[in-house]
Amino acid sequence: MGYSLALALFLFISFTFLQEISLQYSQEAPNNTPTPSPSPSSPPVSTPMVPALFVIGDSSVDCGNNNFLGTLARADRLPYGRDFDTHQPTGRFCNGRIPVDYLALYLGLPFVPSYLGQNGSVEDMVHGVNYASAGAGIIFSSGSELGQHISITQQIQQVTDTIQQFILSMGEDAAADLISDSLFYISIGSNDYIHYYLRNVSSVQSLYLPWSFNQFLAQCMVQEIKNLYNLNVRKVVVMGLAPIGCAPYYLWQYESENGECIEMINDLILEFNFVMRYVVEELNQELHGANIIFCDALEGSMDIIQNFDRYGFNVTTDACCGLGKYNGWIMCISPSMACSNASNHIWWDQFHPTDAVNKILADNVWSSKHTEMCYPMSLKDMLAQQME
Ligand SMILES: *[C@@H]1O[C@H](CO)[C@@H](O)[C@H](O)[C@H]1NC(C)=O
Ligand SMILES: *[C@@H]1O[C@H](CO)[C@@H](O)[C@H](O)[C@H]1NC(C)=O
Ligand SMILES: *[C@@H]1O[C@H](CO)[C@@H](O)[C@H](O)[C@H]1NC(C)=O
Ligand SMILES: *[C@@H]1O[C@H](CO)[C@@H](O)[C@H](O)[C@H]1NC(C)=O
Repeated sequence: MGYSLALALFLFISFTFLQEISLQYSQEAPNNTPTPSPSPSSPPVSTPMVPALFVIGDSSVDCGNNNFLGTLARADRLPYGRDFDTHQPTGRFCNGRIPVDYLALYLGLPFVPSYLGQNGSVEDMVHGVNYASAGAGIIFSSGSELGQHISITQQIQQVTDTIQQFILSMGEDAAADLISDSLFYISIGSNDYIHYYLRNVSSVQSLYLPWSFNQFLAQCMVQEIKNLYNLNVRKVVVMGLAPIGCAPYYLWQYESENGECIEMINDLILEFNFVMRYVVEELNQELHGANIIFCDALEGSMDIIQNFDRYGFNVTTDACCGLGKYNGWIMCISPSMACSNASNHIWWDQFHPTDAVNKILADNVWSSKHTEMCYPMSLKDMLAQQME
């Protein structure tokens, strides 16, 4: 009895083990089928400025991770993606590209693939991986009413797993060099307001005044950035939060009369960005060899909203896709809810800007093209300084 049980157990374990081996083997086997993930039409020509771009964040930069999760926060149907390079929905919460798509191209890299879309082949991850998950926040439970998401702490766990795979495949030193030379882009925090603070989850508004809540979030971010630093991450872009008080959803919810932004909300964001800018400055002092820039998406976006005509926009308050006043009441779920041409709109849906806005913001992060919103310098300058 005992013997046959042991035998059965042995057989079971060996079988599982063999299966795993063969799975690994097949993942490593060369395969000539075209890659399903979207790539820029022509491969990058020049030598990339960094070996890889890694992305951590929420729907502002999710490129398809949520397509693998049970959640309402998914952008896997048209009209999402209709103006993207492939004209297909990918999971990006936009009509076209998100800021990290533009930045990847400026860096000389291909579009960064989603982590959950990976099949485990290291070759497909060495130019970068995107861990961002729509609905995710800095606080673990922010956004949970939408369903599954991957919070920032879990995303950094996935970064750790990726680095483990790099170490197994290329050795410890090469993996450490790859990580320290690569760029990490972090864009998260809006959902801690949209789905947590502003909804007064767990009476948070009675427990924390805005200032203490902002301090709390910023301290969590500091800890996460330190965790990344301990994984050998050195070059980081920390994106500040966008003016969600101007988002069509809040214009609708707070019954904005003539499209005025909701100041109470923007004040929260302004304050958070202010604190983040300060703590990033401190981290640069404290963490030896770290190069972290903070880019204030509120500053960059307010410039666009105020000087809309200079940028070729003429619809500044209404989402291109949605229903209700400002198209802010019901989320964008079908092509018939969308305007015909998003290029003159600032907002694509209830919460997310259009491709046109994402390009302007990316240009600012890259080289302060339209307005200076990165501190202490733009990304291009930060990388140039590194090369000296
Ligand atoms: C994994 O996906 C890449 C394309 O993204 C492909 O080149 C590779 O062959 C795939 N490996 C397996 C085992 O499917
Ligand atoms: C937040 O919720 C708590 C408990 O439900 C309530 O006492 C408090 O008044 C709420 N705060 C605001 C600003 O609505
Ligand atoms: C914006 O401009 C386009 C042409 O560029 C025009 O068709 C459209 O009606 C304008 N929309 C508004 C709200 O002015
Ligand atoms: C949208 O409008 C812009 C400028 O008015 C134009 O350049 C572009 O081709 C239009 N896009 C589509 C898809 O019609």
